[in-house]
Amino acid sequence: MSKPWAIRIADENDLDAIMEIEHECFSSDAWSADSMYEELTGAEKYYIVAYRNEHLVGYAGLNKLPTVHQSEVQTIAVRPEARGTGLGRDLMEHLMAEAVRSDCREVFLEVRADNSVAQKLYLSLGFEQIDVRKRYYQPDDVDAIVMRAQLPSQAKAEPLVLGIESSCDETGVGIVRGTTLLANVISSSMDLHARFGGVVPEVAARAHLEALLPTLHEALATAKVSLEEIDAVAVANGPGLAGALMVGVGAAKALSVSLNKPIYAVNHLVGHVGVDILERGELETPTIALLVSGGHTSLLLVRDLLDDVELLGETIDDAAGEAFDKVARVLGLKYPGGPEIDKAAAEGDPNSIRFPRGLMLPKDMEKHRYDFSFSGLKTAVARHVEVLTTKGEEVPIPDVAASFREAVVDVLVSKAIAACLDHKVPRLLLGGGVIANRRLREVAQQRCDENGIELRIPALSLCTDNGAMIAAIGAQLMAAGRAPSSLAFGAESTLPVTTVQTP
Ligand code: KG4
Ligand code: ZN
Repeated sequence: MSKPWAIRIADENDLDAIMEIEHECFSSDAWSADSMYEELTGAEKYYIVAYRNEHLVGYAGLNKLPTVHQSEVQTIAVRPEARGTGLGRDLMEHLMAEAVRSDCREVFLEVRADNSVAQKLYLSLGFEQIDVRKRYYQPDDVDAIVMRAQLPSQAKAEPLVLGIESSCDETGVGIVRGTTLLANVISSSMDLHARFGGVVPEVAARAHLEALLPTLHEALATAKVSLEEIDAVAVANGPGLAGALMVGVGAAKALSVSLNKPIYAVNHLVGHVGVDILERGELETPTIALLVSGGHTSLLLVRDLLDDVELLGETIDDAAGEAFDKVARVLGLKYPGGPEIDKAAAEGDPNSIRFPRGLMLPKDMEKHRYDFSFSGLKTAVARHVEVLTTKGEEVPIPDVAASFREAVVDVLVSKAIAACLDHKVPRLLLGGGVIANRRLREVAQQRCDENGIELRIPALSLCTDNGAMIAAIGAQLMAAGRAPSSLAFGAESTLPVTTVQTP
């Protein structure tokens, strides 16, 4: 049953309404508007307000001391007509959930000795009396009872985590229990971008907004769990398209606050690496990871999934998938270009045209050993097509597609193998939508075999952007007892891969 009030985080616009209740509830020792303003806007404060039909009916505030893993309930007030309805309990539960999210192990509060209703509520929430401060409340001359609640640690062996990913054009909601995949539902807005030949950020953001709830409901139905059972929410907060990320981040925060569950802000790229856990139960480290999609081309050295991820190199211009999409356009093929080029290339000769390999010359290998560049290749293909067209010759699309694909694959695999050999890492993990490319899989397997490197390619539904990989990282963080993220995090389009979790 839905509650007749809505609770949200307070801001300075709530000040007047709060002061009205403050005077009503604590006439003899009410705070001044100035002190209340300080509270509402202060660092490490968490103030919430409850509205019923647009009228403020209660508020509560927490003071956090994260360095000592403690917090204090600063105040809690409920308008007389809203008492006895469970609102006080709801406000307290929100404060305690925030304390848990902030990695606090204990919450303290003071209560008037003559307020037995409040004491009963606190006892039922797990508080115990630890001290009495004589004649603390003046001018009434009433003692204060000091109470403390010990909070459960976040660590849980097999947490049930819901993950949201909205960094590009896929709206992904995944649910995992520990390392077990329960649901991986993806809604893609790719069709909406087809006529533009690439992802349009504003269109993607709007599509996320429409897709999020249906995707969430389908994931819950597939996993056969209810929102109340979820232990934590995880969300990709970067890197990616800012407007698109914002939709997922907003939804995840709303779930975290309304369900009173901790939230983990997770790095999207690290998600692509961690997804291997869902197939193998663990991620073997160290591993080199090559992530190739429409938005990124990155080479990572992962020594430890949660603590030590290093960016070895990335594209200095176009992403690999973007190159496929742009070249497909030049060849008059449909969007997305990758699958179309793959198809056309099957009939072509990969050695018919020698296209340039970006950043593979000895001088480039010194400065950009693990970096990629595909814009020169794209231009070379465009020029090749243009020359043939001006001469009135037919463009051998299968040969151009096969030769282009060969150039991309050669560079991707060569640099990934170099990274493995240089760092003496006998493992290579692939991720991202371009991994669907047949030639890439073939060449990667062949060169890994030649060099004694174990190749891991997760199922394609886990390679493209998805919420399950984000949930998998969230579950790892929670199982390791890591503090959840505070609600202050935002969408970070250029989040570095070294930040596995935004605090
Ligand atoms: O990871 P992904 O689904 O999401 C985004 O980056 O948005 O990757 C999509 C990219 C597109 O650029 C698409 O052209 C490319 O992956 N792609 C492929 C293949 N299938 C998809 N590229 C090469 N070969 C393919 N078979
Ligand atoms: Zn991705």
